[in-house]
Amino acid sequence: MVPVVAEGRNWRGALVRATVRLEPVAGDGAEREARWLLREVAGVERAWPVLLDEEPTHADLARFDSMVDRRALGEPLQYVIGHWPFRSVDLIVDERALIPRPETEQVVEVALAELDGLGVAGPVVVDLGTGTGAIALSIAVERPEVWVLGIEASRPALELAMENRDRVGLGVKRVAFAAGSWFSMLPGDLHGAIDLIVTNPPYVATGDDIDPSVRDWEPSGALFAGVDGLDDLRVTISQAPEWLAPHGVLVAEIGATQSDAVRALATDAGFVHAEVRPDFAGHDRILIARRHGAPGPRQERRSVP
Ligand SMILES: C[S@@+](CC[C@H](N)C(=O)[O-])C[C@H]1O[C@@H](n2cnc3c(N)ncnc32)[C@H](O)[C@@H]1O
Repeated sequence: MVPVVAEGRNWRGALVRATVRLEPVAGDGAEREARWLLREVAGVERAWPVLLDEEPTHADLARFDSMVDRRALGEPLQYVIGHWPFRSVDLIVDERALIPRPETEQVVEVALAELDGLGVAGPVVVDLGTGTGAIALSIAVERPEVWVLGIEASRPALELAMENRDRVGLGVKRVAFAAGSWFSMLPGDLHGAIDLIVTNPPYVATGDDIDPSVRDWEPSGALFAGVDGLDDLRVTISQAPEWLAPHGVLVAEIGATQSDAVRALATDAGFVHAEVRPDFAGHDRILIARRHGAPGPRQERRSVP
């Protein structure tokens, strides 16, 4: 009997209680999530068995319990933890912006390959709808020669992106953020001069049934795009060619059922090549639209703005 009382006082007991508490929201993932929260509070220095046998301080236990309470009420784990990894960067995440998703990491992978294929020095990249700044900042970190401009319509999200720029140690000379709706506030000297436009715009249809934790907690302005979910992709795809350099490329994340529609939009907009690639789950999620038919070096780089 005694070990039960002793266990109740150590992290192991707290973990068991938290797992039970999280089961209604996290199901099979409840213990994994409880462990994640525990690691966040207790730190990562000790081996797991050592940590579980430790008795938490009152302050640590109170913090852990409060995080478990928030998660039990349905708040996404990432918001509760307050930061989350995205490729090469660890970003502050909160209710001001969409939580960056693993499939968007793959969008960045494709965007980087396109960028590398252009073979231009000091390329200019624009990230439309930057949110936390995930795409813009990871591209800038992974390709130090790139200059990135992130555009965002939501002021709170824009502030978060700027905080994340500080967090990853980049300055405005590498990554600039600006408020605006898609292309409306882009500086005129970028007209016809952008090497790569990358975007993960809202693409959920307004009537779609989505996960309650997404619908209730993440900003609706980051999710919904009209009755067919294509309102924002129509704008970004149709206007992208005039902002891109003649060799320029658009890479966009799309909804899994939008492949045919976005390929048609890209062709109508004048892109010579439009293809959609699957994500890791096999869903068609990444549009690549090139102003020229094939990747490869195009021209000498002009001066960077
Ligand atoms: C799906 S989220 C993507 C956020 C981030 N790029 C990512 O991948 O995690 C779409 C973002 O577009 C922004 N957005 C919505 N409408 C916009 C508009 N008209 N102009 C610029 N950004 C917009 C939203 O506020 C949101 O941050």
